[in-house]
Amino acid sequence: MTIQDSPLKLSDYRDASNRQSRRRHLHQPGHMFRERYRIVKVLASGGFGVTYLAQDGGIPGSPPCVIKQLCPKVSNPLSLERAKRRFRKEAKVMAKVGSHSQIPRLLDYFTINDGFYLVQEYVPGQVLTREVRRAGPQGEREVKQFLSEILPVVKFIHRCKIIHRDIKPPNIIRCGDDGRLVLIDFGGSA
Ligand SMILES: Nc1ncnc2c1ncn2[C@@H]1O[C@H](COP(=O)(O)OP(=O)(O)OP(=O)(O)O)[C@@H](O)[C@H]1O
Ligand SMILES: [Mg+2]
Repeated sequence: MTIQDSPLKLSDYRDASNRQSRRRHLHQPGHMFRERYRIVKVLASGGFGVTYLAQDGGIPGSPPCVIKQLCPKVSNPLSLERAKRRFRKEAKVMAKVGSHSQIPRLLDYFTINDGFYLVQEYVPGQVLTREVRRAGPQGEREVKQFLSEILPVVKFIHRCKIIHRDIKPPNIIRCGDDGRLVLIDFGGSA
């Protein structure tokens, strides 16, 4: 049986539908949101939406910020409702825990037509995925060092009665300015 002949799984339909939805909602560099945020480039395109690097024209010097856009499948009221809930939850959680120096601050939150947007502080640097790939398996000393840097953030979140539920290398940024670890992506938190 060739790939073309093989029956599609339910997840294939879901993935294809999400991809289609993301393409429909994708904004190009230069696009303005609310006459304030100008898109610079796409940072990532994930399961639930698109993440952009943008400039905040409402602040002198137009500093960079990150805009996370949720792309729900509007044809399906159930997924729209679920996406809305997820989006509101992510904003609420970020507003609650964003005071920590190792979590990006929530700067803004808005909806335009059927699109949902969450604006957060930009953390310059690289996600840990690259570090892990480059350095390979780590020794005891490095692992202890990593834990001593990340566990205080986890402890802080738990004290706020929140569980992140998606801590992994792509959701941790090593800040290029001062080397601190920053935990991102509260989209799946509870
Ligand atoms: N505050 C930030 N500063 C710099 N880069 C960021 C920031 N937030 C996200 N990014 C970049 O965008 C990527 C995707 O962001 P994020 O993990 O929040 O979305 P996602 O995994 O697509 O979302 P979800 O799991 O909610 O669908 C990150 O891996 C990172 O490269
Ligand atoms: Mg992520």
